[in-house]
Amino acid sequence: MTVYDKATIQTQSRYNRIAPVYDLMEAIVERFAFRRWREKLWPQVDGNRILEVGVGTGKNISHYPRGIQVTAVDLSDKMLERARRRAQELDSEVDLRLMDAQRLTFPDAAFDVAVATFVFCSVPDPVLGLRELGRVVRPGGQILLLEHVRVNKPVIGKLMDLFDPFVVRLMGPHINRRTVENVRKAGLEIERVEELAPGGLVKLIVARTKHGQIGG
Ligand SMILES: C[S@@+](CC[C@H](N)C(=O)[O-])C[C@H]1O[C@@H](n2cnc3c(N)ncnc32)[C@H](O)[C@@H]1O
Repeated sequence: MTVYDKATIQTQSRYNRIAPVYDLMEAIVERFAFRRWREKLWPQVDGNRILEVGVGTGKNISHYPRGIQVTAVDLSDKMLERARRRAQELDSEVDLRLMDAQRLTFPDAAFDVAVATFVFCSVPDPVLGLRELGRVVRPGGQILLLEHVRVNKPVIGKLMDLFDPFVVRLMGPHINRRTVENVRKAGLEIERVEELAPGGLVKLIVARTKHGQIGG
């Protein structure tokens, strides 16, 4: 049995709590923004062995490119339950597993690509989680992230810092994560950052693990 630290248990129970209403809560943003951004991300996947971290209720499953092997993990069993149902409905062969991104049980270099969408806002220690992606993706492999981040504007940024503790307790994600910086701190090489929403609120981050280096 896996033993989690306090912050990870809290994250898990928050997502277990909101799992039944998660899709409903996100329906409007999904329809008018997230879906478009998912459609932008998935065709960029460069490889056949794919890991999706923080699969949630499985909203990316319908976007997986045909003919590739996807393994997808999440910390919340209740979110995963929904992903399983969605996978069945879509007749997808995705391999779904309960796992903490901060302690992946896969061997080094097991995947060509790792993908996460709106996940590193919630992982308690994002640098540790990103380092784990760097470990399980082969040297020179790709890491694709879709993330909302702290806006780099004095007033809005400070407001995001102020409201962050309430949003975390209520919903699970942090609204003031500096994910581009965290990707660098994890020892990954940033290839490209694309701003998708005004003020750089949502970004598509394309990074690579360093050649000849396993484990970041
Ligand atoms: C905001 S939801 C996003 C779900 C999905 N990726 C999407 O695009 O709809 C964040 C997800 O990350 C998962 N998560 C948070 N911390 C995690 C961790 N340490 N390991 C694995 N999954 C985690 C949560 O359980 C939740 O399902």
